[in-house]
Amino acid sequence: MGAGSELANRFRAAQQTPSRFKEVAPLYSRPQDGKMDFLPWAHLRLPPFPQIALRVLQLARDENVQLHELCDLISADPAFASEVLTVANSVLYAPRYPSSSILQAVAVLGSNTLQGMCITVGIRAYLGKTMRFPALRSLWRHNLACAVVAGRLASGGLMDKDVAYTAGILHDIGRMALAVIQPKEYGALLEIHRGPAISILNGERDLFGLDHCETGRQLIGDWKLPDDFEPVVSAHHALRRTDGAWDLAELIKLSCQLADAAGYPAFAGCGTIPFSTLLNELPARERRLFFPDLASLTAHLTEAVHAIECA
Ligand SMILES: [Fe+2]
Ligand SMILES: [Fe+2]
Repeated sequence: MGAGSELANRFRAAQQTPSRFKEVAPLYSRPQDGKMDFLPWAHLRLPPFPQIALRVLQLARDENVQLHELCDLISADPAFASEVLTVANSVLYAPRYPSSSILQAVAVLGSNTLQGMCITVGIRAYLGKTMRFPALRSLWRHNLACAVVAGRLASGGLMDKDVAYTAGILHDIGRMALAVIQPKEYGALLEIHRGPAISILNGERDLFGLDHCETGRQLIGDWKLPDDFEPVVSAHHALRRTDGAWDLAELIKLSCQLADAAGYPAFAGCGTIPFSTLLNELPARERRLFFPDLASLTAHLTEAVHAIECA
């Protein structure tokens, strides 16, 4: 039996199993004549992303914002504030002195770092129950690993490491939405698919009528995320540019591939590019300051992912 028919069987089985996520509308109407009838984007009822995380992201980018406004916004939701504080005190940020309030955390880590932490907490809350599916938990880890790599690469150059971290954690936001809408079906695709990272886009189009890059592009507008994340979210599987350009979108393409290579692929059967090839694609300064070998990168990512998962 080929991978395609195996996937079709898994998909059919997933559709027949009662869903624990009935509150979410499906992306398609049930096939009457063997042909899927996909719903247009505007008719989808996506679960809302935690508004507080989106608001922090918007506010933190406002040059005129006062720190106390950010603190008041986060502190207004005690459960969210407590999760942010736990992440702020985790070994990922390794503060010399633990913060006991959001105000203290912002003062120690800065508002830019805070936006990355809030989006991390927001995405974890958004994925919620879907994390019970191992393939979707791996997807979450891939995004975390990509964010950590992106922050590290940016600190080796002239880019803002917090913006790079946030772009990394958001780069697969389209996948997160597909995962939340149809966790069983998307989890089955992630488990079964084999091939290069970009090849799964076709499988997503077959299942949902659109791929995660297109989904992410739509979400940038719908959720009013900063525009500079649009090329990151919509084109991170496009070929690397050959003119030597090095910007946020290029940094995330490589960070995603480095996360795949270091043992944190977006799906288990993802074909990876050798670490040495990816290292050679980095600009000289970033390469000099990056991890010299795959083992040290993997060890760092394992520690960082564990820190967030335990926070
Ligand atoms: Fe992706
Ligand atoms: Fe990725």
